[in-house]
Amino acid sequence: MVKISPSTLSVKLENLEEEILDVEKKGADYIHIDVMDGKFVNNETLGYEMLKKAHDVTNLPLDTHLMVENPEDWVEDFLLSNIITFHLEAVNSETAEKIIEYLHEHEIKVGISIKPGTSVEEIIPYLEKIDMVLVMLVEPGLGGQKMIEKCLDKVKFIRNLKPEMDIEVDGGVNLENIDRIRKAGANIIVAGTAIFSAEDREYVINKLKS
Ligand code: DX5
Ligand code: ZN
Repeated sequence: MVKISPSTLSVKLENLEEEILDVEKKGADYIHIDVMDGKFVNNETLGYEMLKKAHDVTNLPLDTHLMVENPEDWVEDFLLSNIITFHLEAVNSETAEKIIEYLHEHEIKVGISIKPGTSVEEIIPYLEKIDMVLVMLVEPGLGGQKMIEKCLDKVKFIRNLKPEMDIEVDGGVNLENIDRIRKAGANIIVAGTAIFSAEDREYVINKLKS
């Protein structure tokens, strides 16, 4: 069964604790913390504050998505996370190796994310060293966008290579496209708008799972 990681990007910071508790009660498996620096993407979020609040209120694993330049300068502020994902486009291979090593020393799982324009082959050298690949299904930076269908080919490609690997997808997931996403081989599903704007969040989370 797939796991669901609701994205806090869809939540106002002042409501964060109650919203996290609500989705936890309704079946969330992780909490996805979107961190934006206003450079790698246009928008900015108070990533650390979100992470700290989430950590104080829930025992769910915290899945941090760094959409930042120079992620090597950010990771040490996010050690309350259980998984930290950085973008392949934001690093060279030497920096990537350093971040992977640093996080593993701190017993934090490591994800690497690829944007829609990045070729899936670029992730291959890292697959043996990391715990998760995050395939972006939209351009990072904004919630509520439409999924770019062809990004699912990347999920299939990685799933073929690595039957057991955690493959997370993020962006534009909804009840209409979830079957195709699961069929492609994703097993951790980030969803912001689909969950937080739903009347019945429990129903949506269950449907995304099954
Ligand atoms: C977008 C973020 C996503 C976003 C997903 O750049 O990384 O996590 O919040 O939101 P939806 O599910 O609304 O596309
Ligand atoms: Zn995200």
